[in-house]
Amino acid sequence: MVAPSILSADFANLEKEIHAVSQAGADWIHVDVMDGRFVPNITIGIPVVKSLKKVSPIPLDVHLMIEEPERYIEDFIKAGSDYLTIHVESTKDPAAVLKRIRELGAKAGITLRPGTSLDTVLPLLPLSDLVLVMTVEPGFGGQSFMADQIAKISRLRQEISSKKLSCLIEVDGGINAETAKLCHEADVFVAGSFVFGRDYKTAIAALR
Ligand code: DX5
Ligand code: ZN
Repeated sequence: MVAPSILSADFANLEKEIHAVSQAGADWIHVDVMDGRFVPNITIGIPVVKSLKKVSPIPLDVHLMIEEPERYIEDFIKAGSDYLTIHVESTKDPAAVLKRIRELGAKAGITLRPGTSLDTVLPLLPLSDLVLVMTVEPGFGGQSFMADQIAKISRLRQEISSKKLSCLIEVDGGINAETAKLCHEADVFVAGSFVFGRDYKTAIAALR
């Protein structure tokens, strides 16, 4: 699956952009939420997710890069997040937050910074519908892919198969037609600058 990140879209025309990538074959819309504390950048919040939900024909995959996500998950789910992903480093009790996301009716995602060991998320796999492997330092679009993270995807794939779990593996950061090949064991490919920087249909087809 391909999930274009609207961080690289034209923010003055989000409805038009969402329709364009959906028609070009996108599976999900990836929405990057940043609070200026967990990461050194501020993007969008709950009201924008609510507006996107009204116009999006495909699921919203919301990636929270915020401190204490437990304070806001209910609002993000009410606003229309289909998948809601939290960072393992952003909260004292990620297991409780993942459980709560599912209770509130959304799919729960867990993610980690490139410098964080995969061991921190392995115990959380049974509570997760999706595991996001970051292949850049979270905070900005347009950065270069970190090839040293590929081993995490392979190890994750082995863990998921051996434990017969069903969580999806998503990869995010510096994904283009070349780097996507290196991540062939992932299920969902997030791409911001690669998709929004060229013809959307060609870009999405190239990723697939
Ligand atoms: C980075 C975000 C990414 C970003 C990807 O913190 O999580 O989703 O938008 O952008 P590209 O594809 O340009 O690396
Ligand atoms: Zn993201």
